[in-house]
Amino acid sequence: MPIECNVSARTWTLSGENVSYVLHRDEQDRLLHLYWGPRLPGNALHWNPADYFSFASFDLPVAVLPHELPVCGTGWYGTPTVGIRSENGDEVVDLRVVSAELRPGKPPLADLPSVYTESDEEAETLSILLQDKVTGLTVTALYSVFEYSGIITRSLFLRNDGNTTMTVTSLLSASVPFWRSDLDAVHLNGAWARERSIVRMPVGPGDLRISSARGASGHEENPFLALCEKKTDENTGCVWGASLVYSGSFQALCHVDNFGHARLSLGMNPEVFSWVLDPGETLTSPEAVLVFSDSGFNGMSHKFHKLYRERLVRGSWRDRPRPVLINNWEGTYFDFDEDRLLSIAEKAAGIGVELFVLDDGWFGKRNSDNCSLGDWEVNPEKLPGGLSGLSARLHNMGLRFGLWFEPEMVSPDSKLYRAHPDWCLHVEGRPRTEARQQLVLDLTRTEVQDYIISAVSSVISSSSLDYIKWDMNRNMTEAYSVSLPPERRKETQHRYMLGLYRILETVVSSFPDVLFESCSGGGGRFDPGMLYYMPQTWTSDDTDAVERLKVQYGTSFVYPASAMGAHVSAIPNHQTGRKVSLNMRGDVALSGNFGFELDPAKLSEEELDEAKRMISRVKRLRNLTREGTFWRLISPFETRHAAWSFVSEDRREVLLCVYQTLSVPNTAPLRVPLMGLLPDAWYETEDGRRFFGAALMYQGITMSLRGDFSSSVLLLKARSL
Ligand code: DGJ
Repeated sequence: MPIECNVSARTWTLSGENVSYVLHRDEQDRLLHLYWGPRLPGNALHWNPADYFSFASFDLPVAVLPHELPVCGTGWYGTPTVGIRSENGDEVVDLRVVSAELRPGKPPLADLPSVYTESDEEAETLSILLQDKVTGLTVTALYSVFEYSGIITRSLFLRNDGNTTMTVTSLLSASVPFWRSDLDAVHLNGAWARERSIVRMPVGPGDLRISSARGASGHEENPFLALCEKKTDENTGCVWGASLVYSGSFQALCHVDNFGHARLSLGMNPEVFSWVLDPGETLTSPEAVLVFSDSGFNGMSHKFHKLYRERLVRGSWRDRPRPVLINNWEGTYFDFDEDRLLSIAEKAAGIGVELFVLDDGWFGKRNSDNCSLGDWEVNPEKLPGGLSGLSARLHNMGLRFGLWFEPEMVSPDSKLYRAHPDWCLHVEGRPRTEARQQLVLDLTRTEVQDYIISAVSSVISSSSLDYIKWDMNRNMTEAYSVSLPPERRKETQHRYMLGLYRILETVVSSFPDVLFESCSGGGGRFDPGMLYYMPQTWTSDDTDAVERLKVQYGTSFVYPASAMGAHVSAIPNHQTGRKVSLNMRGDVALSGNFGFELDPAKLSEEELDEAKRMISRVKRLRNLTREGTFWRLISPFETRHAAWSFVSEDRREVLLCVYQTLSVPNTAPLRVPLMGLLPDAWYETEDGRRFFGAALMYQGITMSLRGDFSSSVLLLKARSL
């Protein structure tokens, strides 16, 4: 059993694969955290107060206890897991364990995305019920542990079982104490077009905090924070990673207290969140996913990738190869009509593209980004045959048809806004701050949610859509709903997310065969919450292949390649002005969900031939890149090279991808040591070269890359025995 309850020691040991997580209920019924790390048997750890109190201290013992769910007011001074303001105005909470229950499998979270099991054998769940006697607040702490990986998911379920109103002022999905602080923190920092760069820094006394208050997980930070040993690298050393299954504002903290104990926390951002709980009301926290690896960052990423690919993403596209697409955005921007689109489509179909995606500009009178969001009706001047006409023509060419939407937004210059000026987030008496000349619809309101569901659904059905790109191009300002009473206005951002999740659940389950790709100005909402509804995300608006090396490498810390949209675009690149060879642009894009984002009419015959060969190679390789184990081999953050590989589950096939940015004369050839192969097998390249598995791993393979922006992709297969 993954969860062992040791009655005499009052411990619960949650174990899977090579990992254990140990909780203790002390004599005063406080829930304490004893351990998270390499696997231990259920009787290995006992609570020993002397480990914590062998010194004289000014602080009360409660300040030093390794609380699993720390709360404030009785001597603990950190960020509380659950912060409550009572009707009296005080913020004292004292949670004590009342009971605990084990059950097979893993229950879903009400109204929130979460990872899942397909059979009860995959995981076991521990629910611990705690209570604050004075207010009547009950908290159910849910822990599920996955047998194959030792991954632990955590979430809190709050209920007001008292008879007075209380306000939740802080809510963390996980808060894990460590007995040490000789650690580094790793997070994914960025900006628009530069998403998810890997940042590593020592933790030290005080707080390290990353957050978003934007109403989206954001370009700037990702809802992920890891702690690791100083010696940890890609393949060795311990790392403790925490990821939040949520798409809105969040915070992640590492606090090191005055005894040198680090605490890793992840949850709601209290700057933009509070929640009123009337008697009988409930609130569920988003789910935190905790991954421990003793084999470095690659080991951590492998666990996140498998879980997110197989037990977060749902639906018919989860296990299917994704179509090679062409998106007209960088090819035409707003300047298109049906003839231009069809000529792009025809050329694309001729080289093997499978899906044509019509991006922004097909609706209302939208010829620039200054109008019409909300008016999801085709512009007949651009598309006289309507979407259904275009759809029929594309389908006749053997292409699938995909369409761009930005359903959460409204342009002030739109029919929707003129009819419902109060449907956007705003504060009475204040100007409504526009970004990209648009406002954010108030998704806390059911009538707005229903409008979006009906508008999107009717276009999907009437145009026989096969794919949707669901975009969201600005962050929230004046993030308050006028439909909420003053004391509930700080609930707006979270209620928005719950509204968005309801919309997505409804639309996605009504159209199970449609492939959905989320987007937010590129990767501004690349998070596990969105992946629960949409199996892939547009990774970045930066389509420059050199920049993409970093974006895709950083993204891979948490997210599988099957989640990343990656397109070949024109040169000079529209974001950087750089000219990268078509070969390298293709070699970078094939490491994600491959597509083109250019006007093929502007390609020469030779380039079209090359693109055709590229597509047929992508089709041969796409199962391996979608399902294979992804190994980061050389970091583009540290060198002028990058390398990664995809290794099949049986380890008999490996795709090695190697890239060079700037070339330097008179240097030794690049040697790339591979990972995860069969040491005793002989591997053969497509051109007949043979290498011994152990030699490939321990000595590496020599790659000759010539010139700036060059790349090489090598498929190696183990020879039959
Ligand atoms: C932002 C997206 O990231 C782009 O790919 C494109 O769809 C534009 N929006 C369209 O407005």
